[in-house]
Amino acid sequence: MNIILLGAPGAGKGTQARVLVEGRNMVQLSTGDMLRAARTSGTEMGKKVAAIMDAGQLVTDEIVIGLIAEQLDGDTKGGLIFDGFPRTLAQADALGDLLAAKGMELDAVVELRVDDEALVDRITGRFTCGNCGEVYHDRTKPTKVEGTCDVCGSHDLKRRADDNEDSLRQRLLEYYKKTSPLIGYYHCKGNLNAVDGLQAMEKVTADVAAALDA
Ligand code: AP5
Ligand code: MG
Repeated sequence: MNIILLGAPGAGKGTQARVLVEGRNMVQLSTGDMLRAARTSGTEMGKKVAAIMDAGQLVTDEIVIGLIAEQLDGDTKGGLIFDGFPRTLAQADALGDLLAAKGMELDAVVELRVDDEALVDRITGRFTCGNCGEVYHDRTKPTKVEGTCDVCGSHDLKRRADDNEDSLRQRLLEYYKKTSPLIGYYHCKGNLNAVDGLQAMEKVTADVAAALDA
């Protein structure tokens, strides 16, 4: 089963993707994570996208489509989770073409629906394990032992450069202008499922599972 997790910044895409990786042996393909990895390793592309990401703008379709295309040859295990991709109509068309060329299908699109007000708190309180990628929140999901990842024990807990109110405002603007049209696009294709992303994490997980198993 190949799925897209669609939603505004902070909607919970990464959080729910990790649950699906764990529970269903799926593969998470997060273009945000791939771009951050390129920045950390200092590649030419990483240097090119750094300022764009920090300002909360979208990087070019060409770059992210290239990143996703590279991943489709790997082991797809229990299926692919597209997290943060596609984000424009051009990316959605490209994904359809890439999957068709591999004889693969898109089975479901899950839209995590949230209110803008909740997102400021989610984004400014977020931190992530630099080693295993587990996502935390100061208030709603702190680590059990301060400064130590619950999953892998690493002390490398990080905050993202774009997790501040100014970047978030720009990210939201980009979401409404360029990404939210995908809701209508996938609705028309008949594979859109909306889930209330404002509920507690476990409840969101249960609703995502129900949507995928329907
Ligand atoms: P990306 O990394 O994809 O960021 P984003 O879309 O802004 O989404 P986030 O990762 O911020 O949020 P999330 O939905 O994953 O939420 P999370 O689960 O972490 O992209 C970053 C940048 O890269 C973009 O701005 C752009 O520049 C570039 N980029 C990436 N892909 C691109 C593309 N396709 N095209 C062009 N450019 C691209 O949760 C957030 C917080 O909330 C966490 O602390 C979590 O613990 C908490 N939380 C989660 N669920 C709940 C809940 N139910 N209740 C309470 N708290 C919760
Ligand atoms: Mg994410």
